[in-house]
Amino acid sequence: MNVPNHSLRCIDCSSTQQPSVGDLYCAECGGLFAVEYLDAPDGTFPRLPMDDPMAVNSLGEGDTPLVLLEKTGEALGLNTLWAKLEFMAPTGSFKDRGSAVLTTMGRDLGVTEFIEDSSGNAGASLSAYAAAAGLKAHVFAPASAASGKLDQIQIFGASLHKIEGPRQAATEAAEEFVKERELVYMSHNLSPYFSEGMKAASYEIVEVLEDGIEHVVLPVGNGSLLIGMIRGYQELKEAGIISNIPKFHGVQAHAVRPVVAALNGEDWSHDDVQPTNASGIAVSKPPRLAEMVEAIKSTNGSGVTVSEESLIEWQKRLSSSEGVFAEMTSAGAFAGLEKLIESGEVERGSNVLVPITGSGLKEPLK
Ligand SMILES: Cc1ncc(COP(=O)(O)O)c(C=O)c1O
Ligand SMILES: [Zn+2]
Repeated sequence: MNVPNHSLRCIDCSSTQQPSVGDLYCAECGGLFAVEYLDAPDGTFPRLPMDDPMAVNSLGEGDTPLVLLEKTGEALGLNTLWAKLEFMAPTGSFKDRGSAVLTTMGRDLGVTEFIEDSSGNAGASLSAYAAAAGLKAHVFAPASAASGKLDQIQIFGASLHKIEGPRQAATEAAEEFVKERELVYMSHNLSPYFSEGMKAASYEIVEVLEDGIEHVVLPVGNGSLLIGMIRGYQELKEAGIISNIPKFHGVQAHAVRPVVAALNGEDWSHDDVQPTNASGIAVSKPPRLAEMVEAIKSTNGSGVTVSEESLIEWQKRLSSSEGVFAEMTSAGAFAGLEKLIESGEVERGSNVLVPITGSGLKEPLK
């Protein structure tokens, strides 16, 4: 790297640190980092942490289609319901936006081999981007992950470590392996670089719809899409491109709901986890929980939980009425939207956008 265009700022104590993909925790207080840029946003492109934006390790991610879901929007009583088809990405999920940035930073900061843990989609994505950048990846994923996702991790040449038990067990196994092997833990949830890649989704929406979206409803697990999209909107506001940031509403399965519980002051812990088909958001101990809650509150948004049945109902409904085959986690956002309209949190007649984060093609039908 030449002179870096950013530093890492601790989200808890505000200490700063030089750019790094391996130092995930603040040396002063153990907090996580956010990327802090040295220049002001101009709103034309999202600010990115690499020296040369033309040298991004890219597989063609981003610029996903924005489609109007007319029938569903009308049935729900909305003015417009937009879907951003984030599953139309090189590896079939929104994660490719983050993988492009994280693997570029890893490559430029001298990483050759790294460890990652994932519910499946991020592991599949990082494996592809590692292959493209010539990096060796070790991916820890739940043994129960959809075979489509596990097959992707393997065909892209990563070492796949299948871990029995809930999602959290894969994180713990990865952390053990990091200690044993002394390799870089390039965790997409702990590193601040992954969510930087998500900002572009907000830029793409604003480019077409300008200030026109009032609510964004999305599934939240570790919060990379939530945190990154809100940051993208904040940059656009700072640059004077838009005057309002939409309300962001986080959707979780009732079975695993740390974010919604924290937003609503409910006492919920990791020990209360139930099984869920929303595998992408089955995150019981998200390390950026406080940051997610703060981000949602900063937009005057909310959190909502959805039932297991509603995931499947909405997956079928989107497929048969709109021709959109979302993964169950992603379909859950629509179940959440329906509840938010019923409760009045999202007003009838408003303009709503839902990012459809993952493809139904990767997992078996329920
Ligand atoms: C399809 C899908 N949607 C949403 C999410 C949640 O993303 P995040 O953990 O960044 O909140 C995931 C994460 O694995 C996912 O796979
Ligand atoms: Zn700190």
